[in-house]
Parts: sequence; C-alpha cells; structure tokens
Amino acid sequence: MVALPKLYVARLLPEPVMTVIRERFCLTAAPQVGAPNRTALRDGLREAQAAICTLTEGIDGDVLKAAPHLRVIANYAVGFNNIAVDEAKAKGVVVTNTPDVLTEATADLTWALLLATARRVPEGDRLVRSGAWTGWEPTQLLGADVCGKTLGIIGMGRIGRAVARRAKGFDMPVRYYNRTTLDPSTLNDQWRPTSWQEVLAGSDFISLHVPLTAETHHLIGSAELRLMRPTAYLINTTRGPVVDEAALVAAIQEGRLAGAGLDVYEQEPALHPGLRTLPQVVTLPHLGSATLNTRIQMGMICVQNILAVLEGRPAPNRVA
Ligand code: DGY
Repeated sequence: MVALPKLYVARLLPEPVMTVIRERFCLTAAPQVGAPNRTALRDGLREAQAAICTLTEGIDGDVLKAAPHLRVIANYAVGFNNIAVDEAKAKGVVVTNTPDVLTEATADLTWALLLATARRVPEGDRLVRSGAWTGWEPTQLLGADVCGKTLGIIGMGRIGRAVARRAKGFDMPVRYYNRTTLDPSTLNDQWRPTSWQEVLAGSDFISLHVPLTAETHHLIGSAELRLMRPTAYLINTTRGPVVDEAALVAAIQEGRLAGAGLDVYEQEPALHPGLRTLPQVVTLPHLGSATLNTRIQMGMICVQNILAVLEGRPAPNRVA
C-alpha cells in the first residue's frame, strides 16, 4: 500500500474539507480550534510534506527551518502576509493562496459593515435587547444616508471591484485609487480613477482593499485621516495594520471622522481600547470570508494546490 502524504493542518476546517483531507493525507497532528502556539506549529510541521495554514500562523524563517520535508504551504486565505514568502521560495517551498472564491463573500461583508456603521445597526440592536427602548422617536439613532453618496475604494483588485459593483444598487458614484494600472476590461466606465488625495477627500465612504505589505502598513494614518471629510466613514475588511488604530480613534474622538466599520485589527484578537468604547465604530471578528460555502471552497482549493505540488504539477494558486 502506498503511504499517504503527510499533511499538517493548523486549524480545524469545515467538515466536508476535513473528510477529503482524511481520505487523501496522513495528518501529522490533530487539527485544532484556536491558533496553535509556536511549539505546536513546529511539532506539526516537523514531518510534514505539506501544510494548510491560516492567517494567524506566522510562518517565518525559524518555523521553516523546523520543517525539513515541507514542499508546499497552502494558506487558507487570499492574504499571505503571515508567511515569509522569500524564505519559503529560497527553501523551494511553494506557497499558495485562495483567491476568487472569497471575493463575493468579502464584498458582501464590506457592505454589511458599511450599512451597519452608517445606519447604527448594532446600537439599535443593543437598545432593543436591553429593554430600554421606549418606542419610536423622531430623533432616535439618526444615521447617515448611504444611497447617492460617493464610495471611495483604495485597492481595486478583485474584492475592491466586487464592492464597487454593488454600489450600483445604491446609486453611488465610485471613485478609486489603485497603485498600478489596471486591465480596462475589468473596470466599469462609471468608476472614476482618482488621485490618492482625491479619493480620501472626496468620498463619503472609504473602503480599503489593499494587501498588507511593508508599503501598506499604516497606509491610513493621521495625515490621511485629516484629508477625509468629518462626515466620512472608513471601512476596513482587509488587514488591520493597514490602518493606524490610535490615529483612527483620535480622529473619531475629535470629530474629524464620522465613524468606522472594522472587520480586522492591528493586533488581532486584541482591540485598541478606544475602539471598544466608541459607538461610532462597528466591530466584527474578521468575518470577511465567513460563509460556509466560501470556507469549504477555500479548503478544497488548498487541497487542490497541495496535490498539484506533491504530484509534480504546477500549483494553480501559487504566490511564491
Ligand atoms: C483572507 O482570505 O485573507 C481573509 O482575511 C481570511 O478570511
């Protein structure tokens, strides 16, 4: 009987994915709920030929050194800032991600946050559940209009464009900033490319869709927040460190920004204390891709990429 390839799966994935994994691989450790610590990560990787990791597993040079048989890391995410890709490449370890399948789910969640923030949905929910609601009031929980307002998008990749497509239903003009020139066939004539300053200063809602890299760390800091309108809202469903949270809290406290909808944080799962108390901020626990269907597809893509590498074929979603 041919031995099954050895796979380390850092976190328990949805059951249909686990079923396929158990059929095709020999697991080096029992997948767990909750992030593994570094010892568990190294132990799981020691004998592994392949690994499925998530955004919380920091795969740096030291971890890679402890994984001498590793040939492929399939990151269960589109973002792969948790992996030292250059070091993986230098060691001949292929790194893959899960693009496309999570685009629509993440765009939907971006809109859920945008609407929830503008229309104070969590505050309303808390009021009703608290029992303190005394009934309809003309001045109760007044929010901001969404329909017809300008949507600014920073980072017009797959998710940025999916967010922009949804703006049509709200009659919202879209302006965007993208660092590189985009393929015109992926764009809509109604979306206006603008300068970095203009997208910040001219939008009512600004949604971030850039990957986290050294260049995008604190892309939105005090200077950028000062360019935004005091009536504007910032929405972040990409990676927390793209925003300087201390500067964001100060901007909202000082009335220089109306509010923010956040799915991601600088030090997940820790929250900047200011974010915890500001009612103008809506917080979600990094749910961008969290639909059952999407999370199953992400797992299946990881499996496909791993099998490709182990069978000597090109990985469909290779990033390094
Ligand atoms: C991603 O894919 O990068 C998401 O943040 C994970 O849900």
